[in-house]
Amino acid sequence: MTLDYCELAQICAALTEGETDPVALMATLACEIHHADDRFDWTGFYRVVAPDQLKIGPYQGVHACLSIPFDRGVCGVCAREEVAKIVADVHAFPGYIACSSTTQSELVLPVWNGRGKLIGVLDIDSDQPGAFTLEDAVELAEILHTAFGQVKK
Ligand code: SME
Repeated sequence: MTLDYCELAQICAALTEGETDPVALMATLACEIHHADDRFDWTGFYRVVAPDQLKIGPYQGVHACLSIPFDRGVCGVCAREEVAKIVADVHAFPGYIACSSTTQSELVLPVWNGRGKLIGVLDIDSDQPGAFTLEDAVELAEILHTAFGQVKK
């Protein structure tokens, strides 16, 4: 399956138009993104719930760890630096948190609200090594920007 980002972006924008509730947005995007590509074996959000603390949000896939501090894991680094992380080999990433033994590569993107405040991260795991490209990061960031730009608080 080849992911058509133009089509995915249109679907996500149509489904989330006018929605400002972060969890409603996360649930909808996790579902749409996860089912858009066979490379995506776990797709979900971690929410910023306290200073330097992430908590699991809506996701698709097997159960995952519930809490991630900003100083741990790919998600923590992404949240701390507010920069997208593409990890081609999770086993080579210092501090990687293994939620599934089958995961080989990972993409984590920061999620900001309409005021530019970090509200969480989008985490996508793949059972394929080196599954993610810069195009994935750029296109998914645009989808997040469109959806969460509507959230103000
Ligand atoms: N691997 C992530 C933890 C979350 S799970 O992959 C769903 C990390 O290192 O931050």
